Amino acid sequence: MSSTLAYEDAVDLLDADHKMAQKQFLDYQGLCDDGAPSEARQQLALKICQDLSVHTQIEEEIFYPRVQAVIQDEALMDEALREHAEAKDAIARIRDMQATDAGYDDTVMQLGTTIMDHVMDEREKMFLKARYSTADLRGLVPALYARKKELQTGAPAPAPAGKKKVKS
Ligand SMILES: [Fe+2]
Ligand SMILES: [Fe+2]
Repeated sequence: MSSTLAYEDAVDLLDADHKMAQKQFLDYQGLCDDGAPSEARQQLALKICQDLSVHTQIEEEIFYPRVQAVIQDEALMDEALREHAEAKDAIARIRDMQATDAGYDDTVMQLGTTIMDHVMDEREKMFLKARYSTADLRGLVPALYARKKELQTGAPAPAPAGKKKVKS
């Protein structure tokens, strides 16, 4: 997907990430089943970690606060952030390990379980509530998309809101 037009709304954009994550974990399982070399497993694991870090960050920076502002469900937000924290711990462990280390594959697949449980929670609770709320989910797409691209390319903090780049 190469354009914000590809997404119906914020939930659609975020759930596309979820589907990609699910595919990546299945691919990882496939590498394990095939006895793939450690380099291939580590490369995919680090890509998964990077993609999930970007995803959780755009949710925490943009989507969750905007949704919370209208649904006012602190318990739901706390649960989501607790699940993100659990995923971040696993990501940090994976980044500290080598694919040749004992327990590497189990740690990656444990992250997969944590993420898929969290995805089910988001789909069944927060995303539903968001779509039944007055939040402008369509209007959130450009901000989510732009921040995702920034983070993917390693850009630092976003420009202050309202500041436009001047073309020379
Ligand atoms: Fe999340
Ligand atoms: Fe998510």
